[in-house]
Amino acid sequence: MDFLNKITLGNSYLLLKEISDKSIDLVVTDPPYRIHADSGGGLHNSRKWLKNVHDSNLDEFDPDKFLLEIKRVLKVFNAYIFCSKDLLVDYINFATENKYNWDLLIMGKTNPIPTKNNKYLSDIEYLMYIRECGACFNNLVGKEHFYKYKKIKMTNVKASKYGHPTEKPLNIIKELIEISSNKEDIILDPFSGSGTTVIACRDLNRKFIAFEINKEFYENSIKRYQDKSINDSMEQKTFFDLDEEL
Ligand SMILES: C[S@@+](CC[C@H](N)C(=O)[O-])C[C@H]1O[C@@H](n2cnc3c(N)ncnc32)[C@H](O)[C@@H]1O
Repeated sequence: MDFLNKITLGNSYLLLKEISDKSIDLVVTDPPYRIHADSGGGLHNSRKWLKNVHDSNLDEFDPDKFLLEIKRVLKVFNAYIFCSKDLLVDYINFATENKYNWDLLIMGKTNPIPTKNNKYLSDIEYLMYIRECGACFNNLVGKEHFYKYKKIKMTNVKASKYGHPTEKPLNIIKELIEISSNKEDIILDPFSGSGTTVIACRDLNRKFIAFEINKEFYENSIKRYQDKSINDSMEQKTFFDLDEEL
């Protein structure tokens, strides 16, 4: 099947198997998180969207199988994976066992998810970066690209009109892609949601392969991709304010 430069509707656990070995330059993705009942209470509406976004696939997400599959399709291991706290250990073990470099990047937000009394308020999102020796890393001179911690103002969120409950900031995704790939490289996002990775690839002249299982998210992401009148980066200018103290 030809997946190149398309968002494909379907289950990535099956579709991934159809991608040829060593054909992908970079993975940038935000898989369904493993959510435990005790991961925080008082989630009001967010619990509802977590159910929509993740539930049907929750039991299926196996980080070990997922990592082996992306290892097979990547030319050289090179991946950014958003993850929950519970999954960090799986990713770090995988990187260590394979002797890959890893870094934990963090996005700080000003609208933490409310929790019950006996827990620290969570105001960060984790992004695992795992790469094999030889993976692309562009030293973009003159740009402040090398902070592991990104400050993000979520209080001024103005998501794209094709928004998704867990839409990631386009500027951050673009930054990762610029650093870790070159023009015409192929970027894979097996959990594309609203298509943020796809829009970043479109704007940065990268090729892409994207999978999304939810028909509504899939259709919205196609509209978002086709609607070039939306300049997401402009829309999200107020979304980021990396220089300002939180
Ligand atoms: C956390 S969201 C990704 C959001 C995305 N980063 C964005 O900016 O919009 C995860 C997405 O994976 C999709 N998904 C979950 N399981 C899947 C599977 N087995 N195959 C393909 N997509 C899946 C969900 O429907 C959801 O849209």
